[in-house]
Amino acid sequence: MEEQDSRHRTVCVTGGAGYIGSSLVKKLLEKGHTVHATLRNLDDHSKVGLLKNFPEANTKLRLFKADIYNPDEFNLAIQGCDFVFHVATPFQNSTQSSQYKDTTKAAVASVESIVKTCLRSGTVKRLIYTASVMAASPWKEDGSGFKDSMDESCWTPLDLPNNYYRSNFLKDYTFSKTIAEKKLLNYECKENKLELVSLACGLVGGDTVLSYIPASLGCLMSQPLNDPNSYQSLEFLQELLGKVPIVHIDDVCEAHIFCMDQWSLQGRFLCASDFITTKEVADYFCRYHPDICIADEFLGRHGSTVRWGSTKLNDVGFKHSYDAKLIFEDSFQCLRKMGAFE
Ligand SMILES: NC(=O)c1ccc[n+]([C@@H]2O[C@H](COP(=O)([O-])OP(=O)(O)OC[C@H]3O[C@@H](n4cnc5c(N)ncnc54)[C@H](OP(=O)(O)O)[C@@H]3O)[C@@H](O)[C@H]2O)c1
Repeated sequence: MEEQDSRHRTVCVTGGAGYIGSSLVKKLLEKGHTVHATLRNLDDHSKVGLLKNFPEANTKLRLFKADIYNPDEFNLAIQGCDFVFHVATPFQNSTQSSQYKDTTKAAVASVESIVKTCLRSGTVKRLIYTASVMAASPWKEDGSGFKDSMDESCWTPLDLPNNYYRSNFLKDYTFSKTIAEKKLLNYECKENKLELVSLACGLVGGDTVLSYIPASLGCLMSQPLNDPNSYQSLEFLQELLGKVPIVHIDDVCEAHIFCMDQWSLQGRFLCASDFITTKEVADYFCRYHPDICIADEFLGRHGSTVRWGSTKLNDVGFKHSYDAKLIFEDSFQCLRKMGAFE
């Protein structure tokens, strides 16, 4: 696959202060790009301070206020950009909004509005949407069991029984990521004026530039942390997908930038470097960190026989640098530095 020339770009990152967003902004700045990052609250000194302290931020970073519940607010941040990374997603429904009754409606409206703004801009070549493997369950459409493998052809059926989801949050998140990604990929961009890419990432772990434990890192490490709430989400992922696709934050950011750097790229790509079970996570920590005591209820389960069948991202030339062992170890060291095991 041919790469674009390596001149420095102007790019927008929505949700620039979140877990993935902040690492992506940092890496883009390090690579010499100019970044327009959006946050909901520019008076949040901890988030603004974090971003402004990145190397090159004083000359190459501009911050914009934008809320998905007012999707037109992204217009200003997108103006003049060559590429847009739509990373932000609503995790909780805004009670102040009467316009959107749930997170799915808000997420879909933000996708629609951002696609239209990119098209109107006349400068944006490609929109890269941070999707989730939760939209790519290998469940057969008739609910009779799993397909043999999980790949880009898989879409999570949205008629699973309500009691399948372990919480309203998990149900809402699965719906919003699935419907928003479908909306993006079904968008007709006439005359190929705008390329649309969805990068459906596995559960992200590894390091963080944030000063707190991001939710996905906490979920991946829920067993050594003996954290029942996050473990519930991890078990749900395994139930929904057969096993748990995982990926390192560094690979996630590199994959986003890889999608930008290609001369031409469109469509759906799953992004994970390993497909593991909760039993394998527990076994790893029992073996390599026996000082960490994992309670019986967190010792994990064997997964299904579903295979990881996605090669699309590798086929276009992307190489993951972190396998499961490196992801576990970096996640563990990161949490230990934060004092999570004291
Ligand atoms: N982490 C994972 O394992 C994983 C895996 C697959 C896909 N993803 C996707 O990656 C993206 C980022 O996730 P993350 O793990 O980095 O989560 P995160 O740390 O919680 O970040 C979420 C981001 O979304 C923004 N946001 C939330 N509600 C918003 C709203 N109403 N309007 C505008 N922005 C809003 C937040 O902005 P503020 O800073 O303004 O609060 C924050 O920057 C999401 O789209 C998620 O679905 C994550």
